[in-house]
Amino acid sequence: MLKEIVKTTLLNCSLEDSDILKYKNQVQDIHHVLPQYDLTGWMDTPLNDQSSLLNQIDQVASEIRACADVLVVVGVGGSFLGARAIQEALKPYFGLAEDGIEVVYAGLNMSGAYIKELLAYLDKKQVYVNVISKSGGTMEPALAFRVMRQYMEQRYGEKAAERIIVTTDAEKGILKGIADKANYRQFVIPNDVGGRYSVLTPVGLLPVAVAGVEIRALMAGATHAAQELADSDLANNDAYKYAVMRHMLYEQGYKIELLASFEPGLNKFHEWWKQLFGESEGKEQKGLYPSTVNFSTDLHAIGQFIQEGSPIMFETLLHFHEIEGDLQVPFDARDEDGLNYLSHRTFNEINAISKQGTALAHAEGGVPVIQLELPKLDEYHLGYLIYFFMKACAMSACLLGVNPFDQPGVEAYKRKMLELLKENKNEFTVI
Ligand code: PA5
Repeated sequence: MLKEIVKTTLLNCSLEDSDILKYKNQVQDIHHVLPQYDLTGWMDTPLNDQSSLLNQIDQVASEIRACADVLVVVGVGGSFLGARAIQEALKPYFGLAEDGIEVVYAGLNMSGAYIKELLAYLDKKQVYVNVISKSGGTMEPALAFRVMRQYMEQRYGEKAAERIIVTTDAEKGILKGIADKANYRQFVIPNDVGGRYSVLTPVGLLPVAVAGVEIRALMAGATHAAQELADSDLANNDAYKYAVMRHMLYEQGYKIELLASFEPGLNKFHEWWKQLFGESEGKEQKGLYPSTVNFSTDLHAIGQFIQEGSPIMFETLLHFHEIEGDLQVPFDARDEDGLNYLSHRTFNEINAISKQGTALAHAEGGVPVIQLELPKLDEYHLGYLIYFFMKACAMSACLLGVNPFDQPGVEAYKRKMLELLKENKNEFTVI
């Protein structure tokens, strides 16, 4: 039995294991109540037989890779952040994955410059579109899809319908109506899975399969996590330990959690994590503000503040022991830069040592550090980690006493914007 895929440890702070275990009963109670919330279908998804869905996704992804140079994913929030996170974490830094094509994103903003430039970029390429929206009516993707649909019809005529894939609710929403009428192929977002918990459904799986990610390995990792993290005992469940640690630090007065990692490919994964925790917990004037940094780059930017600024944050260091691809520091007979003492080391080794140095320095600066360690950055462990964070987030929000699965604040923004757009059909006052 593979134990401790994610190892959660406190590197430096006043919390003791015995303090953490005082939450044992509360965690157990929440564990048993959690499935009674709406929108908890994601907890069991990886445990159910996914083979027919994965085959369908593979089939469509192969067709897209064979017939297109680029897939445009249209979606916002939970409808694109997860796919982009996985794609960026696993693809090569320069160029595309061996078995993948380019995947770009639209409908994640309302910048006229962005969408105009995208259309110009697509002109020399063969294109497919995957529009993703659970509600089917969110403004950003709806506007972008209106543009993309017309673009595809102008370029491909009647064949456009074969190149547009819709991922939405099985029964309701404007997008569902459009898809049925135009006979677009559809994937279903299960109605018991909310946006930011939907990355392991077709929402995330189709785009990443097109990008060349092994979706079966990703799901196998998630299944392993779903089995292991079904343990209600805090002592055996590292996702729950992480939830309790961050909750205790919040109770001690820390206001910001900084998720930090040392691999630049994880930048977009950070963004997914930020939405997951921010939208799940930031309610009723409560919650840790989730922020992220990528080291060592950001040590030369925001490192000063972390070390010596207002003591309002703690750090969660995400560390993968094995990263594919590495380079030994070359020996140079001239040694003009004085770096020959490192010539027996690899870059990844030096990066790992810089992580240790950072944790020690931040300890001196009084910044508590939680460390999450995984054996390897690959599909399997990323699938595990995604599930780990979703489970930890649900527990964490419940410890705080807020509903992890709604987002009333986002709905408020949407309502206000629509009121303004409808009130001022012809005139806008910019405030
Ligand atoms: O987590 C959420 O529910 C949100 O971030 C949504 O994913 C986001 O608002 C997009 O919604 P939809 O998929 O309905 O277009």
